[in-house]
Amino acid sequence: MSVETTASETAVSAAPARTAHRRHYLMCEPAHFTVNYSINPWMEPTKPTDTARAVEQWQKLHDLYVELGHEVELIEPLAGYPDMVYTANGGFVIDGRAYVPKFRFVERQGEAPAFADWFRGAGYDTVIPEEVNEGEGDFLLVGDVILAGTGFRSTGDSHHEVGEVFGREVVSLTLTDPRFYHLDTAIAVLDPVQGVENGGPERANIAYLPGAFDDASRAILEERFPDAILVSDEDGSVFGLNSSSDGYNVIMSPRAKGFEKQLRERGYNPIMIDLSELLLGGGGIKCCTLELRGRS
Ligand code: ARG
Repeated sequence: MSVETTASETAVSAAPARTAHRRHYLMCEPAHFTVNYSINPWMEPTKPTDTARAVEQWQKLHDLYVELGHEVELIEPLAGYPDMVYTANGGFVIDGRAYVPKFRFVERQGEAPAFADWFRGAGYDTVIPEEVNEGEGDFLLVGDVILAGTGFRSTGDSHHEVGEVFGREVVSLTLTDPRFYHLDTAIAVLDPVQGVENGGPERANIAYLPGAFDDASRAILEERFPDAILVSDEDGSVFGLNSSSDGYNVIMSPRAKGFEKQLRERGYNPIMIDLSELLLGGGGIKCCTLELRGRS
Protein backbone atom coordinates (compact mmCIF):
# COMPACT_ATOMS: atom_id res chain seq x y z
CA MET A 1 0.00 0.00 0.00
CA SER A 2 1.34 3.42 -0.86
CA VAL A 3 1.90 6.09 1.73
CA GLU A 4 -0.02 9.26 0.98
CA THR A 5 -0.13 11.65 3.89
CA THR A 6 1.63 11.79 7.17
CA ALA A 7 0.14 13.57 10.14
CA SER A 8 2.29 16.47 11.19
CA GLU A 9 1.10 20.00 12.08
CA THR A 10 -2.49 18.96 12.67
CA ALA A 11 -1.62 16.30 15.20
CA VAL A 12 -1.22 17.11 18.88
CA SER A 13 2.53 17.16 19.40
CA ALA A 14 2.64 14.29 21.91
CA ALA A 15 0.54 12.05 19.68
CA PRO A 16 2.20 9.58 17.35
CA ALA A 17 2.42 10.47 13.66
CA ARG A 18 -0.21 8.60 11.67
CA THR A 19 -0.06 7.44 8.09
CA ALA A 20 -2.93 7.46 5.60
CA HIS A 21 -3.09 4.28 3.52
CA ARG A 22 -4.84 4.05 0.21
CA ARG A 23 -8.00 1.93 0.54
CA HIS A 24 -10.23 0.15 -1.94
CA TYR A 25 -13.97 0.37 -1.27
CA LEU A 26 -17.29 -0.85 -2.66
CA MET A 27 -20.27 1.50 -2.39
CA CYS A 28 -23.86 1.57 -3.66
CA GLU A 29 -25.77 4.73 -4.47
CA PRO A 30 -28.97 4.95 -2.35
CA ALA A 31 -31.09 5.50 -5.47
CA HIS A 32 -33.91 3.38 -4.01
CA PHE A 33 -33.42 4.37 -0.39
CA THR A 34 -36.47 4.47 1.85
CA VAL A 35 -37.60 2.90 5.12
CA ASN A 36 -40.58 0.65 4.40
CA TYR A 37 -39.86 -2.13 6.89
CA SER A 38 -38.20 -2.29 10.29
CA ILE A 39 -35.44 -4.73 11.15
CA ASN A 40 -33.60 -2.58 13.69
CA PRO A 41 -34.75 -0.05 16.31
CA TRP A 42 -33.70 2.94 14.19
CA MET A 43 -36.09 2.13 11.37
CA GLU A 44 -39.55 3.69 11.66
CA PRO A 45 -41.47 3.19 8.44
CA THR A 46 -43.98 5.88 9.42
CA LYS A 47 -41.25 8.55 9.44
CA PRO A 48 -40.79 10.15 6.01
CA THR A 49 -37.47 9.71 4.19
CA ASP A 50 -35.98 11.85 1.44
CA THR A 51 -34.21 9.76 -1.21
CA ALA A 52 -32.67 12.77 -2.99
CA ARG A 53 -31.20 13.92 0.31
CA ALA A 54 -29.86 10.45 1.03
CA VAL A 55 -28.15 10.44 -2.38
CA GLU A 56 -26.71 13.91 -1.79
CA GLN A 57 -25.26 12.97 1.60
CA TRP A 58 -23.93 9.67 0.30
CA GLN A 59 -22.32 11.45 -2.66
CA LYS A 60 -20.31 13.63 -0.27
CA LEU A 61 -18.91 10.53 1.40
CA HIS A 62 -18.11 9.00 -1.97
CA ASP A 63 -16.39 12.14 -3.24
CA LEU A 64 -14.40 12.53 -0.04
CA TYR A 65 -13.00 9.01 -0.40
CA VAL A 66 -11.97 9.79 -3.97
CA GLU A 67 -10.41 13.10 -2.90
CA LEU A 68 -8.42 11.29 -0.22
CA GLY A 69 -7.00 9.05 -2.94
CA HIS A 70 -9.01 5.90 -2.26
CA GLU A 71 -10.32 3.70 -5.03
CA VAL A 72 -14.11 3.44 -4.95
CA GLU A 73 -16.08 0.91 -6.96
CA LEU A 74 -19.83 0.89 -7.32
CA ILE A 75 -22.44 -1.83 -7.38
CA GLU A 76 -25.72 -1.13 -9.19
CA PRO A 77 -28.58 -0.45 -6.71
CA LEU A 78 -31.49 -2.89 -7.05
CA ALA A 79 -35.05 -1.56 -6.94
CA GLY A 80 -36.94 -2.99 -3.96
CA TYR A 81 -33.77 -3.29 -1.83
CA PRO A 82 -33.57 0.04 0.00
CA ASP A 83 -30.87 -1.25 2.39
CA MET A 84 -28.42 -2.12 -0.38
CA VAL A 85 -26.67 1.22 0.23
CA TYR A 86 -25.19 -0.43 3.35
CA THR A 87 -22.56 -2.33 1.38
CA ALA A 88 -20.64 -3.27 4.52
CA ASN A 89 -23.22 -6.06 4.78
CA GLY A 90 -22.52 -7.16 1.21
CA GLY A 91 -19.54 -9.35 2.07
CA PHE A 92 -16.24 -9.69 3.84
CA VAL A 93 -13.17 -9.51 1.63
CA ILE A 94 -9.60 -10.45 2.45
CA ASP A 95 -6.74 -11.53 0.16
CA GLY A 96 -8.87 -11.36 -2.97
CA ARG A 97 -11.45 -13.74 -1.49
CA ALA A 98 -15.05 -12.62 -0.89
CA TYR A 99 -17.22 -14.33 1.71
CA VAL A 100 -20.78 -13.59 0.66
CA PRO A 101 -23.48 -12.71 3.24
CA LYS A 102 -26.54 -14.72 4.15
CA PHE A 103 -28.91 -12.11 5.53
CA ARG A 104 -30.92 -12.81 8.66
CA PHE A 105 -34.08 -11.05 7.47
CA VAL A 106 -35.97 -11.90 4.32
CA GLU A 107 -36.18 -8.20 3.42
CA ARG A 108 -32.47 -8.17 2.55
CA GLN A 109 -31.94 -11.70 1.30
CA GLY A 110 -32.23 -10.72 -2.36
CA GLU A 111 -29.13 -8.55 -2.05
CA ALA A 112 -26.79 -11.50 -1.54
CA PRO A 113 -26.84 -12.87 -5.14
CA ALA A 114 -26.23 -9.35 -6.48
CA PHE A 115 -23.14 -8.97 -4.30
CA ALA A 116 -21.96 -12.49 -5.22
CA ASP A 117 -22.29 -11.63 -8.93
CA TRP A 118 -20.40 -8.41 -8.43
CA PHE A 119 -17.52 -10.21 -6.69
CA ARG A 120 -17.34 -12.87 -9.39
CA GLY A 121 -17.39 -10.25 -12.12
CA ALA A 122 -14.58 -8.36 -10.42
CA GLY A 123 -12.46 -11.51 -10.19
CA TYR A 124 -12.74 -12.29 -6.49
CA ASP A 125 -12.64 -15.87 -5.31
CA THR A 126 -16.29 -15.90 -4.21
CA VAL A 127 -17.42 -18.10 -1.31
CA ILE A 128 -21.14 -18.77 -0.76
CA PRO A 129 -21.81 -19.25 2.97
CA GLU A 130 -23.85 -21.86 4.76
CA GLU A 131 -24.29 -19.78 7.90
CA VAL A 132 -26.22 -16.57 8.56
CA ASN A 133 -23.78 -13.66 8.42
CA GLU A 134 -23.95 -9.99 7.48
CA GLY A 135 -20.48 -9.40 6.12
CA GLU A 136 -18.30 -6.59 7.35
CA GLY A 137 -21.20 -5.33 9.43
CA ASP A 138 -20.22 -8.09 11.89
CA PHE A 139 -16.66 -9.01 10.84
CA LEU A 140 -13.81 -6.60 11.35
CA LEU A 141 -10.22 -7.33 10.42
CA VAL A 142 -7.82 -5.95 13.02
CA GLY A 143 -4.25 -6.83 12.19
CA ASP A 144 -4.31 -10.59 11.56
CA VAL A 145 -7.38 -11.27 13.64
CA ILE A 146 -11.06 -11.21 12.73
CA LEU A 147 -13.33 -9.68 15.38
CA ALA A 148 -16.75 -11.22 14.88
CA GLY A 149 -20.03 -9.96 16.31
CA THR A 150 -23.10 -11.99 17.23
CA GLY A 151 -26.25 -11.46 19.28
CA PHE A 152 -28.51 -9.88 16.68
CA ARG A 153 -27.50 -10.78 13.13
CA SER A 154 -24.51 -13.03 12.33
CA THR A 155 -24.58 -16.38 14.14
CA GLY A 156 -21.82 -18.01 16.17
CA ASP A 157 -21.61 -20.72 13.50
CA SER A 158 -20.72 -18.08 10.92
CA HIS A 159 -17.77 -17.12 13.12
CA HIS A 160 -16.48 -20.63 12.76
CA GLU A 161 -17.14 -20.58 9.03
CA VAL A 162 -15.41 -17.24 8.44
CA GLY A 163 -12.36 -18.53 10.31
CA GLU A 164 -12.17 -21.56 8.01
CA VAL A 165 -12.69 -19.50 4.87
CA PHE A 166 -9.83 -17.13 5.66
CA GLY A 167 -7.65 -19.37 7.84
CA ARG A 168 -7.47 -16.74 10.54
CA GLU A 169 -8.10 -16.46 14.23
CA VAL A 170 -11.63 -15.31 15.02
CA VAL A 171 -12.55 -13.56 18.26
CA SER A 172 -16.29 -13.79 18.98
CA LEU A 173 -17.94 -10.84 20.68
CA THR A 174 -21.55 -10.67 21.84
CA LEU A 175 -23.60 -7.54 21.33
CA THR A 176 -26.38 -6.92 23.84
CA ASP A 177 -27.96 -3.55 23.00
CA PRO A 178 -30.43 -3.71 20.08
CA ARG A 179 -29.43 -0.22 18.92
CA PHE A 180 -25.96 -1.60 18.23
CA TYR A 181 -26.97 -4.70 16.33
CA HIS A 182 -23.94 -4.94 14.04
CA LEU A 183 -20.35 -4.99 15.28
CA ASP A 184 -19.47 -1.97 13.14
CA THR A 185 -21.90 0.15 15.18
CA ALA A 186 -19.91 -0.61 18.34
CA ILE A 187 -16.28 -0.91 17.17
CA ALA A 188 -14.25 1.23 14.78
CA VAL A 189 -10.97 -0.12 13.41
CA LEU A 190 -8.60 2.83 13.52
CA ASP A 191 -5.61 1.25 11.82
CA PRO A 192 -6.46 -0.74 8.70
CA VAL A 193 -2.77 -1.56 8.24
CA GLN A 194 -0.63 -3.13 10.95
CA GLY A 195 3.12 -3.38 11.27
CA VAL A 196 5.74 -0.64 11.13
CA GLU A 197 7.35 -2.27 8.10
CA ASN A 198 4.09 -1.62 6.24
CA GLY A 199 3.81 1.96 7.42
CA GLY A 200 1.25 1.18 10.12
CA PRO A 201 1.58 1.12 13.90
CA GLU A 202 3.09 -1.93 15.58
CA ARG A 203 -0.38 -3.06 16.65
CA ALA A 204 -3.60 -2.01 14.98
CA ASN A 205 -5.88 -0.21 17.40
CA ILE A 206 -9.64 0.14 17.75
CA ALA A 207 -12.23 2.37 19.39
CA TYR A 208 -15.29 0.79 21.01
CA LEU A 209 -18.44 1.33 22.98
CA PRO A 210 -18.10 -0.79 26.16
CA GLY A 211 -21.84 -0.68 26.91
CA ALA A 212 -22.70 -2.46 23.66
CA PHE A 213 -21.15 -5.78 24.81
CA ASP A 214 -21.69 -8.45 27.41
CA ASP A 215 -19.20 -8.74 30.28
CA ALA A 216 -17.18 -11.57 28.75
CA SER A 217 -16.73 -9.71 25.47
CA ARG A 218 -15.77 -6.53 27.27
CA ALA A 219 -13.10 -8.45 29.18
CA ILE A 220 -11.70 -9.81 25.90
CA LEU A 221 -11.57 -6.32 24.39
CA GLU A 222 -9.85 -4.91 27.48
CA GLU A 223 -7.24 -7.61 27.38
CA ARG A 224 -6.57 -7.50 23.65
CA PHE A 225 -6.75 -3.76 23.17
CA PRO A 226 -5.38 -2.05 26.28
CA ASP A 227 -4.83 1.17 24.30
CA ALA A 228 -8.25 1.29 22.68
CA ILE A 229 -10.27 4.48 22.67
CA LEU A 230 -13.31 3.94 24.89
CA VAL A 231 -16.19 5.88 23.44
CA SER A 232 -18.96 7.38 25.61
CA ASP A 233 -22.58 6.25 25.40
CA GLU A 234 -23.42 9.72 24.15
CA ASP A 235 -21.09 9.44 21.15
CA GLY A 236 -21.94 5.80 20.56
CA SER A 237 -25.65 6.50 20.42
CA VAL A 238 -25.20 8.95 17.54
CA PHE A 239 -23.35 6.24 15.58
CA GLY A 240 -19.96 7.78 16.31
CA LEU A 241 -18.27 4.40 16.00
CA ASN A 242 -19.69 3.72 12.59
CA SER A 243 -16.75 5.51 11.01
CA SER A 244 -14.06 4.56 8.53
CA SER A 245 -10.35 5.11 8.90
CA ASP A 246 -7.41 4.96 6.51
CA GLY A 247 -4.98 5.06 9.41
CA TYR A 248 -4.89 8.87 9.57
CA ASN A 249 -8.16 10.30 8.25
CA VAL A 250 -11.18 9.07 10.20
CA ILE A 251 -14.48 9.83 8.49
CA MET A 252 -17.09 10.22 11.20
CA SER A 253 -20.43 11.69 12.24
CA PRO A 254 -20.34 15.40 13.21
CA ARG A 255 -22.49 14.53 16.23
CA ALA A 256 -19.85 12.51 18.08
CA LYS A 257 -17.97 15.46 19.58
CA GLY A 258 -16.16 13.59 22.34
CA PHE A 259 -14.90 10.91 19.98
CA GLU A 260 -13.63 13.60 17.62
CA LYS A 261 -11.53 15.05 20.45
CA GLN A 262 -10.23 11.60 21.48
CA LEU A 263 -9.14 10.94 17.90
CA ARG A 264 -7.29 14.27 17.63
CA GLU A 265 -5.47 13.57 20.89
CA ARG A 266 -4.20 10.31 19.36
CA GLY A 267 -2.98 12.00 16.19
CA TYR A 268 -5.81 10.98 13.85
CA ASN A 269 -7.52 13.45 11.57
CA PRO A 270 -11.30 13.30 12.01
CA ILE A 271 -13.34 14.49 9.02
CA MET A 272 -17.08 14.99 9.46
CA ILE A 273 -19.68 13.66 7.07
CA ASP A 274 -23.34 13.90 7.97
CA LEU A 275 -25.41 10.91 6.85
CA SER A 276 -28.50 11.85 8.90
CA GLU A 277 -30.86 10.56 6.22
CA LEU A 278 -29.19 7.15 6.10
CA LEU A 279 -29.34 6.97 9.88
CA LEU A 280 -33.11 6.59 9.46
CA GLY A 281 -32.32 3.13 8.12
CA GLY A 282 -30.00 2.45 11.05
CA GLY A 283 -26.78 2.89 9.13
CA GLY A 284 -23.89 5.33 8.94
CA ILE A 285 -20.56 5.91 7.27
CA LYS A 286 -19.01 2.50 7.82
CA CYS A 287 -22.23 0.73 6.85
CA CYS A 288 -22.02 2.43 3.44
CA THR A 289 -18.44 1.27 2.93
CA LEU A 290 -17.19 -2.24 2.18
CA GLU A 291 -13.46 -2.71 2.17
CA LEU A 292 -12.05 -4.71 -0.74
CA ARG A 293 -8.77 -6.29 0.26
CA GLY A 294 -6.90 -7.75 -2.64
CA ARG A 295 -4.12 -10.27 -2.71
CA SER A 296 -1.04 -8.71 -1.21
N1 ARG B 1 -31.28 -1.23 7.66
C1 ARG B 1 -30.08 -2.00 7.61
C2 ARG B 1 -30.25 -3.28 8.41
O1 ARG B 1 -30.85 -3.22 9.45
C3 ARG B 1 -28.93 -1.20 8.12
C4 ARG B 1 -27.62 -1.91 7.99
C5 ARG B 1 -26.48 -1.17 8.61
N2 ARG B 1 -25.25 -1.76 8.27
C6 ARG B 1 -24.19 -1.93 9.07
N3 ARG B 1 -23.11 -2.39 8.55
N4 ARG B 1 -24.24 -1.68 10.34
O2 ARG B 1 -29.82 -4.34 8.02
